[in-house]
Amino acid sequence: MDTCNRFVDRYKTGNTPWVHTDPDFNLIDMVENWPIYPGKTLEIGCGTGVEAIYLAKNGFDVTAIDGSRIAINKAIEAAKEGGVNCNFKVADFQNDEFPSGEFDFAFDRGFFHSFDTEKERKDVAGKIAESLSERGLWLTLMGNADAPPRDSGPPMRSAQDIVNAIEPYFKLLTLTVSHFGNDQENPPRIWVCLMRKR
Ligand SMILES: C[S@@+](CC[C@H](N)C(=O)[O-])C[C@H]1O[C@@H](n2cnc3c(N)ncnc32)[C@H](O)[C@@H]1O
Repeated sequence: MDTCNRFVDRYKTGNTPWVHTDPDFNLIDMVENWPIYPGKTLEIGCGTGVEAIYLAKNGFDVTAIDGSRIAINKAIEAAKEGGVNCNFKVADFQNDEFPSGEFDFAFDRGFFHSFDTEKERKDVAGKIAESLSERGLWLTLMGNADAPPRDSGPPMRSAQDIVNAIEPYFKLLTLTVSHFGNDQENPPRIWVCLMRKR
């Protein structure tokens, strides 16, 4: 089963520990302190839409996609409740077509790290670069392999994994260590990685 369908099943069975209520502070911090300006934005693997809604509320023109209909329905409902205009769509980023050069900013929280092979991560990085305009930015929040081993938690990737996948598509602007902003007592350690399309 491919990654997208694995997640589709997890929403069906309710095995979704990443679901959270407030926008991740790492995204807020990056938007407030880096030159990430409101523009055409693609969130990939948006889940229930918390970060997409935060971005839309802050003036970003957001298209947010996820492979799970269940997740997207929840995101649409949350946007309606919040009176926010956000374009949520069910789509498979790996297999569906996306317009070239369309977006100024791509964001994902826990999507990119889901791919276990270097080839898949490279292909996804290349496809994200293709969807971005010239000098477009990509911010990813992903599990960090330098964390102590845990019984459960997100996939953990090394700095080497990131570099191997993003070359030759992106320049690394910043790579920092943080933890997921979520509702858990002991949130997993992450990388916060901001890149610019080459
Ligand atoms: C770990 S979850 C994170 C969800 C959300 N970003 C969050 O932080 O709550 C990864 C998400 O990526 C989505 N996903 C995985 N593969 C996908 C694909 N090929 N196309 C679109 N979405 C995908 C899953 O359905 C899931 O919602």
